[in-house]
Formats: sequence, structure tokens, C-alpha cells
Amino acid sequence: MSDTAAPLSVVILAAGEGKRMRSALPKVLQPLAGRPLLKHVIDTARSLEPAAVYVVYGHGGERVRAQLAAEPVTWTLQEERRGTGHALLQAMPHIPDGHTVLVLYGDVPLIRRATLAQLLPGGARAQVRLLTMKADDPAGYGRIVRDRSGSVRRIVEQKDASRAQLAIRECNTGVLAAPARLLRKWLALLKTDNSQREYYLTDVIALAVKDRIAVKPVLAAQAIEVLGVNDKAQLAQVEAAWRAQAARELMLGGVTVADPARLDVRGTVTHGTDVFLDVNVVLEGQVALGDGVRVGPGCLIRNSEIGAGTEVFAYCVIDAAVIGPDCNIGPFARFRPSSTLARGVHIGNFVEVKNSRLGEGSKANHLAYVGDAQLGARVNIGAGTIVANYDGANKHRTVVEDDVHTGSNSVLVAPIVVGAGATIGAGSTVTRVVPGGKLTVARARQQTIEGWRRPVKEKK
Ligand code: UD1
Ligand code: CA
Repeated sequence: MSDTAAPLSVVILAAGEGKRMRSALPKVLQPLAGRPLLKHVIDTARSLEPAAVYVVYGHGGERVRAQLAAEPVTWTLQEERRGTGHALLQAMPHIPDGHTVLVLYGDVPLIRRATLAQLLPGGARAQVRLLTMKADDPAGYGRIVRDRSGSVRRIVEQKDASRAQLAIRECNTGVLAAPARLLRKWLALLKTDNSQREYYLTDVIALAVKDRIAVKPVLAAQAIEVLGVNDKAQLAQVEAAWRAQAARELMLGGVTVADPARLDVRGTVTHGTDVFLDVNVVLEGQVALGDGVRVGPGCLIRNSEIGAGTEVFAYCVIDAAVIGPDCNIGPFARFRPSSTLARGVHIGNFVEVKNSRLGEGSKANHLAYVGDAQLGARVNIGAGTIVANYDGANKHRTVVEDDVHTGSNSVLVAPIVVGAGATIGAGSTVTRVVPGGKLTVARARQQTIEGWRRPVKEKK
């Protein structure tokens, strides 16, 4: 905004019921890329650095308010749904005359900051800016009616339009910006003399024309940006658009994406050079991928950091982990929250790691559970090793010092310390301190019973 611009108040209309979603979840809470639709709109609104953001919510919208309680917005209740004009009116008492009001919609999530910036007047002259679109099929939308000279005269709703007006393909997106002082005046003049008996926000356009206030239409560059989400099909449409955009940004940033249509980014990804993402990778929350990271097919990575040169093989789930450089992960490995791996760690197939630290060069290559444990460097966790961290009530910690080798099928019953360089014999269940540098075996001795006969079935 330029220095001369009026302070901005954004009003997000979100009092709709969203029945067509056929869901117990309110429409504006339906997730797009893992975030509620309304959260996308709030974030975009906030990127304009407005003086305030108002969200008009409806009856039954308490859940919306509760879920987004942390957002720095002012919630305004519209008790009864009496139209878009009436909805905007609910926020107006809070907004000073000198502000510009920008009206957005809780179910139009892909609107871009750059587009909205075009609606904000720079100069001192009062005007109304209206976001419009050209629709191949304008059914359902309000039509932009222009006069012979091409000036916008009014908006007519589909349900109130004449045959000739129905043929107009220039449509109202609903998004507009206008001076608060004038909007307040016009909203007070709205009538419900229309087919829906509602207070139409769109009627302010004709009132502006009457007051000789300039109405400037701004054509939206892409239809998807102004798509209102009413049902699950439209939700999938915006998700697909989001997915394509996110993949494109990664590719333009140098990431090799096996198939952009089969990559889902539901958060923020930062990355180094020469990262490769195979098909059906899902990245959620904050994900950081170092130089040369390769992610195999079918992996879910959430709120995690993966160090340079690390390869994640197929079908891994990595949640809230910090994985060091040059590690090998998977295939079929699972990280539950909060693990940290140093350089060169190998975690193989069917290994689960939770809330643990693994030192440089440590390995757990097959079929193991490592939970609440701290492993030193060069530890080798044998196939089938289980860290028994949970006694049914409490979780206990395990410390495994450098260079320990655990034999196949060992059980380490926590709390326990395994000293540096210790070897645990296969099949051992250890419950007490395992001294360093020695072989500890804790299993029944093998014996052979001489003269034993295998039972045989009696013949009938
Ligand atoms: C509205 C516009 C129409 C435009 C279309 C774009 C009006 C009268 N018409 O029509 O010109 O082409 O949007 O999608 O404005 N809402 C409330 N409270 C209300 C009524 C609506 O908060 O009392 C909110 C809804 O949650 C929704 C939005 O306003 O997000 C639009 O309402 P809706 O009834 O869907 O308007 P349309 O009839 O589609
Ligand atoms: Ca309506």
C-alpha cells in the first residue's frame, strides 16, 4: 500500500451453512492442503497487513471460532442469515469511516495476495473496486451489467436476471473493496425486494453509480482463484490446483519431481539442490530437505528435517524427526515423533523409531523397535531387537553406549544401560546393566535330550 492509502479492514464472510458438503465438519473448516479453508483466507488477508480482519460467522459456527481461536481476527456473529449485505453489516460497527473495506469469503481459498492488491485503491479519490471473472458457464453467479459506454451500472443476481442479462458472461466474484464511510451509507439503504428476500451486498454497486462514485472492475486472472468451494468435488478441484502449484514451485526451485500430479505438499517445504521426490510422496507441515536428498515412492514426511545426501527408500513414514546427512532410511521404516539421527545412520525395513537419539554410523537394519532410547555411535541393533520401554504405566529410558552390538531377537528392558562395546547374545532378554566390552548372554542354554521320542498319533 502507498502512504496515501487508507488503512485497511478486511471482512471475511463465513456464515454459510455449507450443507452441500454433507459433512459434520463446517464448510470453512474443511481442509485444503491440511489447513481449513478459512485459515487460507485469513492468511492471505493478513499478508496485506491490514489494520484488522473480521470474520462473520453464523449460527452453529462456534466450532469454527473455537478451532481458529488463535487467529488474530475479530469474530462477528451474524445471528440470522439474511444475505451478503446483512453479513457485511455485522462487521461495520467496528470499522472506522476512514478505512478501506475489503470483502472476502471463507470458502474462496485460493485468492492470491497479488490479485487483492489490485483492488486496493492507491489515490485519495473514493471508488469501488470489484473483482470479476469471465465464466464459460455463468450459471449461479451475479452478472455484471454495463451501459453502452462500458461503465458498470449494477450487478444482477441469477435469480433476478432477465433473459438478456442471463447471457452476460462477465460475473461477480463477490470480492470487492470500498471506502467504509460509503459502504456504511449504502448498506443502510439495502432493501430485500428481490427473489430471495435477502439484503444483497451486490446492490451497493448501483448505489455507488447513483452517487457518481467510480466502480472499477478488476478481472481475475485465473478462474480457480475465485472458485467458491461448496461441495467435495469443488474441494478436490482446489486441492488439485494447490497441489499443481506447490509442485511447480518446487520444480522451479530445482527439485526433480517424478510426477507433479502425484506429489502432495500440505505445508512448507524448504530444500537444497538436486533433491529428488518419487511418486506419491506426501509432505506435511514444515519439511526441510537437504542437498541431494532422495525420497522414494509412497513416503509421508511430516514436520521433519532430512540431511544432505540422505536417501529415504520406498514407503517410509517420518514424523517429527531430524535425520542427519548421509543416512539410509527404509524401505518401510517408521519414525514416530521426536527422533534425532546423526550422520550416516541406517534404519532399515520394518524398523520403528520413537523419541530416540542415534549416534553417528549406528544401524538398525531389520525388524526392530527403538523407543525412548539414546544410542551412541556405531551401534548395531540386530534384527528383531526390541527396546521394551513401557511397563504398562510408565515409559523408561534406555542408554546404549558406543559400539554396542545387540544380537538378533534381543529384548532390552528399560530402564537399562548397555556399556560401550558390549555385545548382547542373540535371543537375550536383558534387564540389568550390561557391562561394556564383554559378551552378555541372557537366555536358556541349549540342550539336547537324548532318547526323546516324538509323540505319534494312535492308529484307530
Ligand atoms: C454471491 C453474490 C453473487 C456472486 C457469488 C459468487 C450476492 C447477493 N451475490 O452469490 O453476485 O456471483 O456470490 O460466488 O452477494 N454469506 C454470509 N451470510 C449471509 C449470506 C451469505 O456469511 O447471510 C456468505 C456465505 O457464507 C458465502 C458468501 O457469503 O461464503 C456468498 O453467499 P452465497 O449465498 O453463496 O451467495 P451467492 O448466492 O452464491
Ligand atoms: Ca444465495
